[in-house]
Amino acid sequence: DGVRRRDFINIAAIGAAGVGGASVLLPLISQMAPSEDVLAESSTEVDISAIEPGQAIKAIFRKQPLFVRRLTEKEIAEAGAVNAGSLRDPQTLEERTKEGHRDILVTMGVCTHLGCVPLGAAEGEVKGEFGGYFCPCHGSHYDTAGRIRKGPAPTNLEVPEYVFTSDTVIQAG
Ligand code: FES
Repeated sequence: DGVRRRDFINIAAIGAAGVGGASVLLPLISQMAPSEDVLAESSTEVDISAIEPGQAIKAIFRKQPLFVRRLTEKEIAEAGAVNAGSLRDPQTLEERTKEGHRDILVTMGVCTHLGCVPLGAAEGEVKGEFGGYFCPCHGSHYDTAGRIRKGPAPTNLEVPEYVFTSDTVIQAG
């Protein structure tokens, strides 16, 4: 059923994150003992192949939640239909995703107001009035590009530095 499948995907992503961190740290360990700073700077790998359109997974990046979402065609169209210049934090979907992967939205799962974890990444969670993410702490609504549309948050959900290391794996950091 959907709930079990979701739990499996979450576990798989966190497992992949651990592997990614280890592989990046190995060369450093050979040079010196990694300090807390180095550990905090480590990167996170996420296998996105199991994420279906309309689904998201939660991973951990630098000890904080990371949301990786595969947008539906409708969600992409909704993000594109907005005049970005009119937004509180003007950005287009193109500026927040990678070329050739417009359907993959990678953001921190940290509300830019006071740092709560927004809802909308897990199955059955409310996504807010704009269909993206909803922060229940003080009612910030993010759209399908993770942009702030309503509520107190000052800026869009942060898109961390990341690259596609293959068509199905992203590496944040
Ligand atoms: Fe998200 Fe305040 S922390 S709305």
